[in-house]
Order: sequence, then C-alpha cells, then structure tokens
Amino acid sequence: MSPDQPETPPPSASETVTPAPAFPGTSAPIRLSVSAGAHPSTIWIGEGLADRLAALLDEHAVGARRFVVSSPAIWRLHGEQMQRSLGGAEPILLPDGERYKNLQSVSKVYEALIKAGADRGSAVVAIGGGVIGDTAGFAAASFLRGITLVHVPTTLLAQVDSSIGGKVGVNHALGKNLIGAFHQPRLVAIDPLLLKTLPRREFRSGLYEVVKYGVIASRDLFDRLTTSTKAVFARDPAVLVPAIVESCRIKADVVTKDERESGLRRILNYGHTIGHALEAVTQYRRFRHGEAIAYGMLGAADLAAARGAMAERERQALVDLITALGPLPAIADLPLGEIVDAIRRDKKVVNGRLHFVIATRIGATTTVDDVTADELRDVLLRLGLQG
Ligand SMILES: NC(=O)c1ccc[n+]([C@@H]2O[C@H](COP(=O)([O-])OP(=O)(O)OC[C@H]3O[C@@H](n4cnc5c(N)ncnc54)[C@H](O)[C@@H]3O)[C@@H](O)[C@H]2O)c1
Ligand SMILES: [Zn+2]
Repeated sequence: MSPDQPETPPPSASETVTPAPAFPGTSAPIRLSVSAGAHPSTIWIGEGLADRLAALLDEHAVGARRFVVSSPAIWRLHGEQMQRSLGGAEPILLPDGERYKNLQSVSKVYEALIKAGADRGSAVVAIGGGVIGDTAGFAAASFLRGITLVHVPTTLLAQVDSSIGGKVGVNHALGKNLIGAFHQPRLVAIDPLLLKTLPRREFRSGLYEVVKYGVIASRDLFDRLTTSTKAVFARDPAVLVPAIVESCRIKADVVTKDERESGLRRILNYGHTIGHALEAVTQYRRFRHGEAIAYGMLGAADLAAARGAMAERERQALVDLITALGPLPAIADLPLGEIVDAIRRDKKVVNGRLHFVIATRIGATTTVDDVTADELRDVLLRLGLQG
C-alpha cells in the first residue's frame, strides 16, 4: 500500500447552515454549499421543494428567462407540478436514455435557446436524472460560453451524485463521458418526494452510491443503511432524507476541497474502477450504473482484505449490506480478460500506474498504485466470473 493518500478526513460540513441530526423531522429544508468554480453553488434538500421552484430561483437570483430541459417520461409524471411551480414554463424535452446523452441532444437545446432568443442572463433548469442533468448541464456550460444552470434531480442517483460537483458532459460514439466541462450549478433543488415515482431498480441503483458514501466517509451512514434497510426501501422520509443529506454533504465537501480531481476527489471513484469496466464490456446494457458499482465495491473490498489492508469483518459487513439491497445482474459469463484490459485502459491510470481506491475500514480509504493484473484476475474470479 502506498502511503501517499491520507485517510479520508471526516466530512467537515463547514458549509452547512442547518446541521442535520441523525433523524431530523422532515419539515425544514437543509442547505449545503459547494465553494468551487467561479460562484458558490447552493444545494437545498427538502420535501416539497419542487412545489416552490420559482420562489427558490428568485431567492438565488436566477435570471427571469428560465429554460426547462427534461424528458417526455419525466414530464408525463411531474410536468404538471413543475409547470405550476415554475409558472407555466414550456420545456425542452430530450429523449431519455444513455444512448441519447450525446451532442445531438445538446444541439437540440442550443437550437431551442437560440430560437427563443436566450441571452447571457438566461438559465437552464435541468429536471431529470443524470442523463438529462449531464446533457442539459453541458449545453448550459457551453452556450454563450456558459449560462446559469439549475439542477432539479429526479432520480436518487442524480440527487446524491450527478447533480453535485459540476461535472457535465455527454458521450461520444467512441466512449462514455468523453466530452464535457466543469460547470457548477447555481442551485440544486433536491426534493425526495420526486422519488416516489422512481422504479425500484433505479432507486436501488442510487442506493449503491449512498452505500459508497458510507464506505468512504461515514460509518454512521453505513450503519443506518444496514439497520434500516426496510425503511429505506419503503422510502420512509425519516430514513431516506437524512441519508440523502449525508451523501450530499460528503460529496459537497470533497468537491469543495478538490473540484478538478487532482487528489481527494478520487475517493468518489471507490468501486468505480471495476464498475466502469463491467459497464463498458457490457456496452452499458446489462447494469444500471449503481449495480456495476456494487460489484466494484465488492471487488475493492475483496482486494483490500486479500492484502490485509481491511479487516475481514468489515468486508463481510459490506457484502451483507449489498446482499440485503437485492439481487445484482449475473456476471459469471463476462469475459475476464476484457475486463482486466478495460480496467488498465481506465482514466484512473496515471503514468501507466492504476490508482485504485480501497477502503481500509468502513468510513476510511486509501489509494494504492501497485495492483497487478494477476491480483485483478483473482478478485474477478472470486466475484464470480469464470476464467
Ligand atoms: N455528472 C456527474 O458527476 C455524474 C455522476 C454520476 C453519474 N452521472 C451520469 O448519470 C447518468 C445516470 O443517471 P441516472 O441513474 O439518474 O439515470 P437516467 O437519467 O437515465 O434515469 C433513469 C431512468 O429513470 C427515469 N426517471 C427519472 N426520474 C424519474 C422519476 N422521478 N420517476 C420515474 N422515473 C424517473 C428516467 O426517465 C430514466 O428512464 C449516467 O449518464 C452517468 O454518466 C454523472
Ligand atoms: Zn457512480
């Protein structure tokens, strides 16, 4: 293990105005902020926020010309509420799905903005999951060299992860997320009530990212997920809202300290080295993102335990929680060699060395850069792949 990376510091929550107790009532919204990029970015989390978007945007001095970007599926479910809340906005609707996260969709947003005479004072309000947020966000980052962006995330994954941190972008035919920018949203309005319509599998996909935050930075969050799994699945706000808040707080903290991923931000990639490879070799069709990350976390824990860097009981606690969250797609048939190759081609390879984030216990991480191909093969075999 290389000692280059300090253990994860506890989240300082320095930017938090309203502290979140472990099980707060669900009435008062919680405010966090990310101070990265040119302007601070505010995150509001609270049930019912989606009903008062216009007032919230006004409070944050978001320009009067607001262009909503969403998808037909999301608009069917939530469009009426959004129109009421935003005062009759006509949305720009993009087709939903990873294969539409491309420059053509970005172009559609440009076209609508240009035709409507949008200017530097206009804002894009992205209402949707990570696909809509990343695509609309990239349009906002590049139109007129950057206009105001607001995220109203509607999936759990987008609420705890993709809407925070300023990474926006789209896929290229030759690879995922190859075209993008850093563009911090002025405001992120997270309303957990929007998750009521989310299909269970999408909900679970987001939950694995919540597990990730527990593993990298919060034993308490991890333990609450373990002891309250049923309530989490029932989307009980008393458990779900604090879990979302804690996840956002951890991400906001990490991004504030390292926006451009020169060091600390890499801990957010926990589970993503193997996870991304699983997604890539299956052409993004077999796994929801979080499911691939669940396997990635199991692999990272196995690797850490095999090296003696993580206690076996900690590894088992992670296995137990991931198992309790439900079945994962099969992996036995996947080509082991291709996965190892995909891992070695990953963005996380710096100067030929793979930087691999491992947890040393639940709540703390370190980075190692001496993982060998043989070690990876062994981990994948133990995960269930057939050599
Ligand atoms: N920018 C970042 O930092 C970052 C981080 C993580 C992931 N991502 C990106 O996020 C994307 C995945 O995002 P995702 O998991 O949100 O998937 P997604 O945006 O594809 O949404 C998943 C599905 O849920 C539906 N949906 C969304 N909200 C709903 C609701 N409230 N009720 C019912 N259905 C709803 C959508 O129509 C879609 O079919 C990937 O492209 C990934 O690269 C970006
Ligand atoms: Zn992820």
